[in-house]
Amino acid sequence: MILPVPDTPLHPLPNLARRLGMDPGELWVKREDLTGLAGGGNKARKLAAIVADAVARGCDHLVTGGGAQSNHARMTAAAANIAGLGCDLVLTPGDESGNLLLDRVLGARIRVLDGGPLPYAELEAAIEARARELAGQGRRPYAIPIGGSTALGAAAYAPVARELAERLDPGLVVVAAGSGGTQAGLAAGFGDHGKVLGIDVGARPGLAAAIEELAAGAADHAGLPAPTGRCRLDPAQAGEGYGVPTDAALAALRAAARADALLLDPVYTAKAMAGLFAAVRELPQGTRVVFVHTGGLPGLLATRYADWLTSATPASSAAGPAATAEPS
Ligand SMILES: Cc1ncc(COP(=O)(O)O)c(C=O)c1O
Repeated sequence: MILPVPDTPLHPLPNLARRLGMDPGELWVKREDLTGLAGGGNKARKLAAIVADAVARGCDHLVTGGGAQSNHARMTAAAANIAGLGCDLVLTPGDESGNLLLDRVLGARIRVLDGGPLPYAELEAAIEARARELAGQGRRPYAIPIGGSTALGAAAYAPVARELAERLDPGLVVVAAGSGGTQAGLAAGFGDHGKVLGIDVGARPGLAAAIEELAAGAADHAGLPAPTGRCRLDPAQAGEGYGVPTDAALAALRAAARADALLLDPVYTAKAMAGLFAAVRELPQGTRVVFVHTGGLPGLLATRYADWLTSATPASSAAGPAATAEPS
């Protein structure tokens, strides 16, 4: 492989577990935020497989896209540099901070689309259109869909599920679901959709069907049978939509930071942690739970979230940060 496949830590979150009424050894985190690749995140594994495929096909250019705060776009720009490929990003407008700033530091060519956020399918079409344009200019582009969620990319998460199964045998794994590839790959690796609870962050319409299709494709790539059961998603944490913060996410973000110094991001992992807080209320005592931390730190530092992060909400009242985080 041209990009290294990362080896990431797996460790308990004892203080957060206690705040949630769990035993200290019952709550774990898989640190997919520590993958390396210009800031880290779940795209590193997907991109290791995707870039190898692009190079094997003789491509000289990666093309992808997303929101201005796309972690996937930032990490694709990083992957292209390491592999010696060109990189074009098609992004929706946003402030020049966080991921967008890093895209520029990494030297990607950026096209910011007019108007506000685009529907998912239109953004995918804009990535394809940019790739066709580059092909017309004599380049050999490789178009990567939003989030790197092809069956090949998703398959990169099957080994992570196997590692978790061997080392911890968790009762439940909780992960943010955006384009769905990470959840799909985990489900493929476990061979069971029921082990993985995806927290829908509101990015992709028809997410459950997309995850089931990706999981079957990922299993096929990994030489595994398609996972049993149906995809499990919590739609309740998305709030008013993708990238729009919620009070529950802020409470979860503060609780994780203040309990075990775990930094989450507003768009994905804070909503996923809020989903975990809700889920553990319903679990039998003694269930071992793993939170897959998928990264996103540059998004935490984006200017647009600064006021939200410092705002006074019920979660930051005198009752303390865990006030809304504890099971009722
Ligand atoms: C930080 C972070 N977490 C989670 C996700 C969701 O992963 P997936 O798109 O595979 O569902 C993304 C995707 O962009 C992400 O950047």
